[in-house]
Amino acid sequence: MAKKQINILAIESSCDDTSAAVLQDDRVLSNIIANQKIHAEFGGVVPELASRAHQQNIVPVVEMALRKACISKNELHAIAFTRGPGLLGSLLVGTSFAKSMSLALQIPLIGVNHMQAHVLAHFIDDEEQKKPPFPFICLTISGGHTQILRVTDFFQFEILGETIDDAVGEAFDKSAKLLGLPYPGGPHVDKLAKTGNGERFAFAKPKTENELDFSFSGLKTSILYFLQKEQKANENFITENLEDICASIQKTIVDILVSKLLLASKTTGIRHIAIAGGVSANSGIRQALRDAESKYGWTTYIPKFAYTTDNAAMIGIVGYQHYLKNLSSKQDIKATARLTVSES
Ligand code: KG4
Ligand code: ZN
Repeated sequence: MAKKQINILAIESSCDDTSAAVLQDDRVLSNIIANQKIHAEFGGVVPELASRAHQQNIVPVVEMALRKACISKNELHAIAFTRGPGLLGSLLVGTSFAKSMSLALQIPLIGVNHMQAHVLAHFIDDEEQKKPPFPFICLTISGGHTQILRVTDFFQFEILGETIDDAVGEAFDKSAKLLGLPYPGGPHVDKLAKTGNGERFAFAKPKTENELDFSFSGLKTSILYFLQKEQKANENFITENLEDICASIQKTIVDILVSKLLLASKTTGIRHIAIAGGVSANSGIRQALRDAESKYGWTTYIPKFAYTTDNAAMIGIVGYQHYLKNLSSKQDIKATARLTVSES
């Protein structure tokens, strides 16, 4: 008899993207993302506006995900949703929507940890990415988090190091802001860096007490002072050197990330190295990981673009793993702004 296929609807609303996906087992049938353009005007995410936009987007996004997947509501086996970490007002929209839908359809509700989802996105079955074997090291780099993890099983994560101040995505976005680039600046820096010389300018690399921890607030200050000094001599310094500045900032950040991964790999003896989270879309870190295969003898795991920045497909794959273990949440489960990666 053919194995029963499991259809899961997943919802992600932790920050400023409203996303819904349908997974059939570990394959993605649809993954719809509505970006909220409104925040660009304010140079950052405005929580109040984000939750309002989620409310407007969630019904059409879910309908579109079901339609694209050619799955009707009655064919769903479970609803997975992001329960944290994230902005509370944003999380509440996805949480209440998922609760009502699971209640109406009488199917299990599965609360998912967003940080686990970034990592486990690697287990989505897709020709464009490969699945890492356990144990592996995962560098999660996003707008809110920067962590090096030892992942020993689907739900076993050990934090080896993390940022003591800004996340790496913030380092990109704040540097971009200093250069007058739109929010979120990370992708703009990446694009401009492609035609720039990354060796041209050097920025200080901060030291941390635990060598596997990160610190990025100093980098922003060092970029700020550097720009102020150069602009005194030439007020057009930024526009005339934008590509080289972006390439140099990106190189500094990528060098920091790779050096920490190298240390984590040496300390643990693990050579299966993955990256995850929004910043793993960055072409500099992707190339550095590919180069590391021959340089350090690593096997590297680079997620498909669609699964790097916030998306519901990654929530769906965690939901599927919970479903396989018969784990579901109760209706009184709460959205939680703070949640560490090891809390399921
Ligand atoms: O994972 P994500 O979508 O949201 C959080 O959970 O935080 O990450 C968003 C972050 C933003 O800081 C954005 O600037 C950054 O990822 N980002 C990039 C690139 N694409 C997205 N940073 C550098 N290069 C990119 N190509
Ligand atoms: Zn994220």
